[in-house]
Formats: sequence, structure tokens, C-alpha cells
Amino acid sequence: MLRRRPQLRSIMALMVVMAFVTPSLPALGQKTSPVAPARAQVEAVVREAYEKFKNDTSGKNADYIPYLAHVDSKLFGIAIVTTDNQSLTLGDVDYSFSIQSISKVFSQALAMEEFGPDKVFDKVGSEPTGRAFNSVFAVADMPTHTGNAYVNAGAIATVSLISGKTPDEKWNKILDFYSRVAGEKLKLIDEVYKSEAATNTGNKALSMLLAKYDRIYADPFESVDVYTKQCSVGVNVTQLARMGATLANNGKNPATGEQVIKPENIPHILSTMIMAGLYDGSGSWAWHVGLPAKSGVGGGIVAVVPGKGAIAVFAPPLDEAGNSVKAQKVIQLVANRLDFNLFSPRSVGLKSD
Ligand code: DON
Repeated sequence: MLRRRPQLRSIMALMVVMAFVTPSLPALGQKTSPVAPARAQVEAVVREAYEKFKNDTSGKNADYIPYLAHVDSKLFGIAIVTTDNQSLTLGDVDYSFSIQSISKVFSQALAMEEFGPDKVFDKVGSEPTGRAFNSVFAVADMPTHTGNAYVNAGAIATVSLISGKTPDEKWNKILDFYSRVAGEKLKLIDEVYKSEAATNTGNKALSMLLAKYDRIYADPFESVDVYTKQCSVGVNVTQLARMGATLANNGKNPATGEQVIKPENIPHILSTMIMAGLYDGSGSWAWHVGLPAKSGVGGGIVAVVPGKGAIAVFAPPLDEAGNSVKAQKVIQLVANRLDFNLFSPRSVGLKSD
């Protein structure tokens, strides 16, 4: 690692950044996590990433959902929550953004809670599509038609599986489940829902195509509507990191202690995240970062470090595949510095140094 001699400018920059750091514990370093790297080390790396990328203007807000085009593209927040419920946040951490496709992880989890992994695998599957997340061609071409729970078609099929006498009952069940995973009551962002519902003809087309192949399990348009609501749930970056930390903690919310997801379902979720969490960018992500993660076109990405915790980053501008540019850069830097890559020799029990 390069070591620079401390200079006045960088010391001043560090002091400015420190003013933004919001330790959620009474005092930093007061509690030592048995599982996470030393807190001071994590803080230093997160600050470094924040400083390095805060002025990066690459990428572009999603605009196919009109509301998202108007979100301030400079918003930038980072949160880490550990499995022993320590948290570290930096930047725009109170801004509530739409969870979008990250919701798909938790609806897949809910479907498995209700029906078990075998049925969910049978009804939805978990194969890479090699296409954009909203591809009609993937539905037509793939033997399963649904692909996986993280592309729009597979996600709509997953929602259709979830039980409920009415679409409202289903929606309330989904919102309640997400809230338990986050450890806080989450809410719909109504303007996002309205904006998306007015423009989601593509998803309606996907649902009808699924009906043609008998791969949707409730009324197609009602399923799209519940799916649109789940994508419009608001989260701040800390809530998102806590949702990831629940996955990292084998399904037990580290803040509330509730076992929200059965431990035996976690490997199926994490494997889908590795395979399809960043859509067309998933291979490159696995190669460079090696962590299960999920992105959303709202600008959020959450990455899970099993047994240790999760990092969530929010920054609206996206790359071509629909993944937040800054979030990818921050998580890659943090994961590499802290040696979180699941496939690294150290992670599999072989010492690398
Ligand atoms: O259905 C859609 O297109 C959006 N509600 C969600 C897409 C999304 O977040 C894809 N993410 N990268």
C-alpha cells in the first residue's frame, strides 16, 4: 500500500470529513466487534472512499421512471452495519430513496419463507439471463422464461407467488416483511409509485408474456401493481445496510434480534445475488469485488459480507447496466482494502500472506 507523508491539505480534508461522520455508538471504538475488522480501520477506509469519489460525476440518473430523473444526482451516502449491530455512516444518510430492484431480494426471501426454496426454484429459478433486467427476449428465449428473481420478469413472478386473498393483503405482507428485515417501519414513496405506475407498460408486457408460458401465478396486472409498489418503498442508506446485515447475520436482524429469514434460505439468496445482483455487471462485480450484492435504479447498492455485516451506498447516477457508478466504486475500494472478497485465499481459510 502506498503511504504518503501527511500534508496540511489532506489533514484539513480529513477534518472536514470527520465532521460528517455520524457514529451511532456512544463513542467510536468503545465496543470491539468480535467479527468485524477494527472500527478505526473501517472508518479510515470509508472516509478514504468518500473523499476519493464524492466529486465523481460519471453515470446518469435513471430517467425511464420520470421521478428518478429529478433526484439530486450529487446525493451520496455510505453506511455499514455489522452483525453485532455497530453502524458507521457518512454523507447523505437521512435521504429516503426508492429501493427499486433491491426489493427483489427480499420478496424472493419472503416467497421462500412461505413456500421453501424448492418451490421458489421450481416456479422462478435462478439462471443468468445475459440480457438487460427488463428484457422481453430473455422471457421468450429462456427455458424457464422467468430467468431469476432479480430480473423484472422473475421478480413479477415471485410477487405473484406470495400468498394473499387480495393484492392489498399481499402488499401489506411484503411491506411488513421488508420492515422487519430493516428493523424499522418502512413506507411507500407515493410519488415514485405514481410515476412508475404511469409508465410501466414494459412490465405489464412482461407479465402477459409470462402468462403465455404459464409462469405467473396470480393476475398479471395486479402482480405488476404490487411489484411496482415494492420497488417504490423508501429506504435510507442505513436502513438498507441493516437489511443487508440481516442477510449477513444468517437472517437474524442484528438490531431487533428477530430471526426474520430462515438460515437455510440465506445461501439461496446470496448465490442469486452473486449471479445476478448487478445484472449485466454481475460477472465483472464477482471478478473484482467477490461479494453478494444487489443494485437498484434508484441509486442504491447493498453488498453482504457473510458473518460480518453489510455496506450500502446511495448515489443516483448509473452505468449502462443500471448500477450506481459511485456505489460500485466505493464498495470495491472498501471490500478490497478490508479483504472482504469471499473468494480470496484468506476467506476460504488459506493464508495469503
Ligand atoms: O421495474 C423496474 O424497471 C424498476 N422498478 C426496477 C428496476 C431496477 O431497479 C433495476 N436495477 N438495477
